Amino acid sequence: MSLSRTIDTPEIEEALAAGTTIRKHVLDLDDFSREEIHDVMNSARSMKEVLGRDIKKVPALRGKVVVTLFYEASTRTRISFEEAGKVLSADVINMSASGSSTEKGESLLNTGLTIQAMGVDTIVIRHPHSGAPYLLAQELDTVNIINAGDGLHAHPTQALLDIYTVQDRLGGLEGKKIVIVGDVLHSRVARSDIWGFAKMGAKVVLSGPTTLMPPDLLLASNSIIQSTIGSLVEFDSDLDQAIEGADVVMALRLQQERQNAGFLPSLREYIRRWQVTDERLSRANPGALVMHPGPMNEGIEISNSIAHGGNSVIEDQVTNGVAVRMALLYHVTTGPTQLD
Ligand code: CP
Repeated sequence: MSLSRTIDTPEIEEALAAGTTIRKHVLDLDDFSREEIHDVMNSARSMKEVLGRDIKKVPALRGKVVVTLFYEASTRTRISFEEAGKVLSADVINMSASGSSTEKGESLLNTGLTIQAMGVDTIVIRHPHSGAPYLLAQELDTVNIINAGDGLHAHPTQALLDIYTVQDRLGGLEGKKIVIVGDVLHSRVARSDIWGFAKMGAKVVLSGPTTLMPPDLLLASNSIIQSTIGSLVEFDSDLDQAIEGADVVMALRLQQERQNAGFLPSLREYIRRWQVTDERLSRANPGALVMHPGPMNEGIEISNSIAHGGNSVIEDQVTNGVAVRMALLYHVTTGPTQLD
């Protein structure tokens, strides 16, 4: 199998051709196999090489049109998708709900059909309603859909960049202990990370107030995660205990609106029990990675010194996000018709 389109160096072309899985949409990681995740990681490594050049431009998506359709605020995801598309020479059009016909009451489906009628190849969508990207994937015929975060449900491209970052720093995820601490209940990042980390063979330990844990994940006998992925996801509300021997500690943003919604005893209590601090990190394995999907509330879920300390790979996550999103845009936008 070879690519009919030249990327611009034989190494990159070869690396991308090695990934044989072609998918039309990226909606969540539940339907990704471990092999497909490896394919994305290999492609992302080739893309990162492109990003390290003086001139960051390859013609891989020349003539293709990508729309970023964001109904919610974003810095990292939106800008990195725009950069990813532009480095690959796609024409990238950014659209937000504000200033569009959404303000006049146009439905998501009609917006999608309108964009499809303009001949757009790929839509990258962020939406406050869980399932919005699935609606477009189901109803649009010719457009590829990438989920850039839907409601409380999923954020698969964040999970893939998180996997890339751990693999890059630790050499792999098999057998690694990854602690995710904080507001798991309202975190689409955590949901996709759990799928991705567990599929790659890591042991995931969730920590935080029980009120901020999804009930389905609290059940020790939970099924979908254990039987489908074959890896146990544990919960330990005691972060000092959970963090013992961790290879990775990921803090989640405490969403400010939760503070007044009865989920927390008090902010002071939350900081005391679940903030990732130097003292707590000293219980983890030496060289443990500190991650955060951003944006951070420094001084709440993570201390300033940890956020910017030697164990932090938070900026790496952002850098790797561009490469991973280049790989995903390339894979879904070129599709099977580009392969001999
Ligand atoms: N991690 C993340 O999704 O960040 P943004 O909201 O800035 O895109």
